[in-house]
Amino acid sequence: MGYGTVSRLFHWVTVVLVAVMIPVGIVMIQDVPRSVQDPLFILHKGLGPFVLLVVLLRLLWRLWHPAPALPASVPALQQKVARLVHVALYFFLILQGVSGYVRVTTGGFPIETLQRLGIRPLLPKSEAVTQVAEQIHAVSAVALIVLIGMHVAAAAYHGIVRRDGVFSMMWPPVAK
Ligand code: HEM
Ligand code: HEM
Repeated sequence: MGYGTVSRLFHWVTVVLVAVMIPVGIVMIQDVPRSVQDPLFILHKGLGPFVLLVVLLRLLWRLWHPAPALPASVPALQQKVARLVHVALYFFLILQGVSGYVRVTTGGFPIETLQRLGIRPLLPKSEAVTQVAEQIHAVSAVALIVLIGMHVAAAAYHGIVRRDGVFSMMWPPVAK
């Protein structure tokens, strides 16, 4: 029962990547010494496009491997809310990745990891676009944090309180 191994691996790799991206993103915009800030920016900008790639590959995989049904013991409304939160998680993860990429490239800043791979910026410099992308990245980050909070609380509720099999649909990362 539950998700297949590939879907689970995609889920948990995304969790690890996002668990790095969010704290690094928050710390690097604080008033910290440049010796701390610079490597965090390079890490965040460098890892970001790969997070986006993982999320897009995961969605592609999902087209052929739809989500398994939740146990019948979960009320219909809760099932709807769960699916809605999953769609919103995908939406804001993509918006976060795209707005980050747009913000950096139209701002004229380098993405060192892509440079090293010989991938040139896809967008020209634009002060107006970079400002909008910066706003979107900040607002989308808040939405993502709230959604992840709801999602993790629900997962913990099912795993610890209800013990109804919902948690083991996604855990462990390899299907038994
Ligand atoms: C899904 C992936 C990503 C997550 C979860 C994420 C998360 C965050 C968070 C939480 C912040 C601090 C919030 C704020 O700006 O107020 C931030 C800031 C930032 N992120 Fe990301 N980010 C992601 C992808 C990217 C990508 C792909 C890039 C660029 C290649 C990027 C570049 C930046 C920059 C430059 C900032 C500093 C804020 C600014 O001045 O615009 N991020 N990110
Ligand atoms: C960065 C944090 C996370 C993100 C972005 C995320 C995203 C998602 C998404 C999009 C799905 C739906 C999969 C699909 O139908 O395609 C999902 C399912 C699931 N996630 Fe997460 N997740 C995160 C963290 C966690 C954590 C920390 C746990 C456990 C404590 C967890 C447990 C589960 C479970 C049990 C499911 C299957 C539930 C169901 O199908 O209704 N997730 N997650």
